[in-house]
Amino acid sequence: MLTLKLLLQRQRKLFTGDVKAGQEKSAMCVACHGTDGNSVVSMYPKLAGQSANYLAKQLADFKSGARVDPVMVGMVPD
Ligand code: HEC
Repeated sequence: MLTLKLLLQRQRKLFTGDVKAGQEKSAMCVACHGTDGNSVVSMYPKLAGQSANYLAKQLADFKSGARVDPVMVGMVPD
Protein backbone atom coordinates (compact mmCIF):
# COMPACT_ATOMS: atom_id res chain seq x y z
CA MET A 1 0.00 0.00 0.00
CA LEU A 2 2.77 2.40 0.87
CA THR A 3 4.43 1.80 -2.49
CA LEU A 4 1.17 2.52 -4.29
CA LYS A 5 0.69 5.69 -2.32
CA LEU A 6 4.19 6.88 -3.11
CA LEU A 7 3.69 6.04 -6.77
CA LEU A 8 0.46 8.03 -6.92
CA GLN A 9 2.07 10.97 -5.19
CA ARG A 10 4.91 10.88 -7.68
CA GLN A 11 2.55 10.73 -10.63
CA ARG A 12 0.62 13.70 -9.37
CA LYS A 13 3.84 15.69 -9.45
CA LEU A 14 4.64 14.57 -12.99
CA PHE A 15 1.34 15.81 -14.39
CA THR A 16 0.95 19.33 -13.14
CA GLY A 17 -1.66 20.61 -15.58
CA ASP A 18 -3.84 23.52 -14.55
CA VAL A 19 -7.43 22.32 -14.89
CA LYS A 20 -8.99 25.69 -14.14
CA ALA A 21 -6.84 27.52 -16.70
CA GLY A 22 -7.69 24.89 -19.28
CA GLN A 23 -11.41 25.15 -18.64
CA GLU A 24 -11.29 28.92 -19.00
CA LYS A 25 -9.36 28.73 -22.27
CA SER A 26 -11.63 26.06 -23.72
CA ALA A 27 -14.98 27.63 -22.75
CA MET A 28 -16.04 28.17 -26.36
CA CYS A 29 -14.79 24.76 -27.50
CA VAL A 30 -17.44 23.22 -25.22
CA ALA A 31 -20.15 24.38 -27.65
CA CYS A 32 -19.07 21.75 -30.16
CA HIS A 33 -16.77 19.35 -28.35
CA GLY A 34 -18.93 19.09 -25.24
CA THR A 35 -18.24 19.45 -21.55
CA ASP A 36 -14.97 17.74 -20.64
CA GLY A 37 -14.43 16.95 -24.31
CA ASN A 38 -17.28 14.46 -24.49
CA SER A 39 -19.16 15.70 -27.51
CA VAL A 40 -22.74 14.49 -27.88
CA VAL A 41 -22.94 15.36 -31.59
CA SER A 42 -21.19 12.81 -33.76
CA MET A 43 -19.95 15.37 -36.32
CA TYR A 44 -17.80 16.90 -33.58
CA PRO A 45 -15.01 14.58 -32.47
CA LYS A 46 -14.67 13.71 -28.78
CA LEU A 47 -11.47 15.21 -27.45
CA ALA A 48 -11.67 13.43 -24.10
CA GLY A 49 -9.17 10.63 -23.73
CA GLN A 50 -6.85 11.85 -26.49
CA SER A 51 -3.27 12.49 -25.48
CA ALA A 52 -2.07 16.05 -25.04
CA ASN A 53 0.54 15.45 -27.75
CA TYR A 54 -2.07 14.32 -30.25
CA LEU A 55 -4.38 17.28 -29.55
CA ALA A 56 -1.53 19.79 -29.69
CA LYS A 57 -0.40 18.35 -33.03
CA GLN A 58 -3.91 18.56 -34.51
CA LEU A 59 -4.23 22.20 -33.43
CA ALA A 60 -0.79 23.00 -34.86
CA ASP A 61 -1.79 21.26 -38.12
CA PHE A 62 -5.04 23.25 -38.37
CA LYS A 63 -2.98 26.39 -37.86
CA SER A 64 -0.31 25.52 -40.42
CA GLY A 65 -2.83 24.28 -42.97
CA ALA A 66 -1.50 20.71 -42.89
CA ARG A 67 -4.98 19.69 -41.71
CA VAL A 68 -7.87 21.53 -43.32
CA ASP A 69 -11.32 21.98 -41.82
CA PRO A 70 -13.40 25.10 -42.47
CA VAL A 71 -14.79 25.13 -38.92
CA MET A 72 -11.64 24.39 -36.94
CA VAL A 73 -9.45 26.72 -38.95
CA GLY A 74 -11.34 29.61 -37.35
CA MET A 75 -10.60 28.24 -33.88
CA VAL A 76 -6.82 28.51 -34.02
CA PRO A 77 -5.63 32.10 -33.62
CA ASP A 78 -3.11 33.45 -36.14
C1 HEC B 1 -18.24 25.28 -34.28
C2 HEC B 1 -17.84 23.97 -33.75
C3 HEC B 1 -16.43 23.82 -33.17
C4 HEC B 1 -15.85 24.57 -32.19
C5 HEC B 1 -16.43 25.80 -31.44
C6 HEC B 1 -14.55 23.98 -31.94
N1 HEC B 1 -14.37 22.90 -32.76
FE1 HEC B 1 -12.77 21.62 -32.72
N2 HEC B 1 -13.58 20.54 -34.26
C7 HEC B 1 -14.78 20.82 -34.88
C8 HEC B 1 -14.97 19.90 -35.99
C9 HEC B 1 -16.16 19.86 -36.96
C10 HEC B 1 -13.82 19.06 -36.01
C11 HEC B 1 -13.53 17.91 -37.00
C12 HEC B 1 -12.68 18.44 -38.12
C13 HEC B 1 -12.34 17.38 -39.14
O1 HEC B 1 -13.19 16.53 -39.43
O2 HEC B 1 -11.20 17.40 -39.63
C14 HEC B 1 -12.98 19.49 -34.91
C15 HEC B 1 -11.76 18.90 -34.57
C16 HEC B 1 -10.97 19.27 -33.52
C17 HEC B 1 -9.75 18.60 -33.12
C18 HEC B 1 -9.16 17.36 -33.77
C19 HEC B 1 -9.80 16.16 -33.11
C20 HEC B 1 -9.34 14.83 -33.66
O3 HEC B 1 -9.89 13.80 -33.20
O4 HEC B 1 -8.46 14.76 -34.52
C21 HEC B 1 -9.25 19.28 -32.06
C22 HEC B 1 -7.98 18.95 -31.27
C23 HEC B 1 -10.16 20.37 -31.78
N3 HEC B 1 -11.20 20.33 -32.68
C24 HEC B 1 -9.99 21.29 -30.77
C25 HEC B 1 -10.80 22.38 -30.54
C26 HEC B 1 -10.51 23.42 -29.57
C27 HEC B 1 -9.30 23.43 -28.63
C28 HEC B 1 -11.52 24.33 -29.66
C29 HEC B 1 -11.68 25.64 -28.90
C30 HEC B 1 -10.59 26.58 -29.07
C31 HEC B 1 -12.45 23.84 -30.67
N4 HEC B 1 -11.97 22.68 -31.19
C32 HEC B 1 -13.64 24.47 -31.02
C33 HEC B 1 -15.70 21.80 -34.49
C34 HEC B 1 -15.49 22.76 -33.53
